[in-house]
Amino acid sequence: MSETTNEPNVIPAASCVLISGGSRGLGLAFVEEVLANGAKVAAFARTVTPELQQLMDANPERVYVGSVDITDSKAVTSFIKDAAKVLGPIDALVNNAAIGQDSLHLHTTPERIEDIISTNLTATLLVTRAFMRHAMAKVGKGRIVNVTSVCAQRGYSGLVAYSATKGGLDAATRSLAREMHGRFLVNSIAPGFFASEMSSVLGTEQLSTITRRTPTNRLVEPENITPTLRMLLFEDTNINGMVLTIDGGGSI
Ligand SMILES: NC(=O)c1ccc[n+]([C@@H]2O[C@H](COP(=O)([O-])OP(=O)(O)OC[C@H]3O[C@@H](n4cnc5c(N)ncnc54)[C@H](OP(=O)(O)O)[C@@H]3O)[C@@H](O)[C@H]2O)c1
Repeated sequence: MSETTNEPNVIPAASCVLISGGSRGLGLAFVEEVLANGAKVAAFARTVTPELQQLMDANPERVYVGSVDITDSKAVTSFIKDAAKVLGPIDALVNNAAIGQDSLHLHTTPERIEDIISTNLTATLLVTRAFMRHAMAKVGKGRIVNVTSVCAQRGYSGLVAYSATKGGLDAATRSLAREMHGRFLVNSIAPGFFASEMSSVLGTEQLSTITRRTPTNRLVEPENITPTLRMLLFEDTNINGMVLTIDGGGSI
């Protein structure tokens, strides 16, 4: 972890990070990365996986986990309070939890569209608000990273509502960065497709098409994304309001 600083307008390196959807996939890789950089982690998902539970058991003073549905905003607020009692003030947020889509817009039920928007966009904005109210009161400054997607920048069939939520979050990133006048650094990481439970709906043919269209000729892996998270949480880069795309150049 890089040195913290009291210099005005410099946001210190994160010391305690709230991660939504930290139970598996990219979110779990983020939990491990934050711990490896010496910071504490509060992570939640609907199901606490054995991997996440193990991290808490091995680091009871540095890791707090809970089973929380992100769409239950009261439960999220309680989780933040309970986590801070154990870990101390939380000064960074990684909005990673999301659900995917694999259906043409014509065939996606209104209920499913609402589910995707309320989980990926509305709930994420509410977590951000709850985190900021906590961090403003306890620390006064902090860092926020929204995990979005290349789907917000390029068209992908079968991902209309999902893409809308990710584009909405990228737009929120810019406006929140402007609104907070540097007290919170707010950025998006937009990955290309990587193997996970979410992307398991993609067939081999779709994956090889994406690979073929990617200049580096390989799909992104979580380990390609964690260095950017590390930079945004721990380094003094002055990067603010940006979308950092990590996709091997597939979207250029
Ligand atoms: N995989 C890709 O190709 C890809 C590409 C670009 C961007 N992304 C983005 O990367 C992030 C991580 O995706 P991933 O591929 O690692 O997905 P994943 O393996 O499906 O993991 C999603 C995480 O979010 C949690 N989650 C989902 N719904 C939730 C809810 N209602 N309340 C609380 N937690 C919830 C899941 O846990 P529970 O189900 O137990 O709640 C899990 O921990 C997402 O924002 C995704 O949109 C993924």
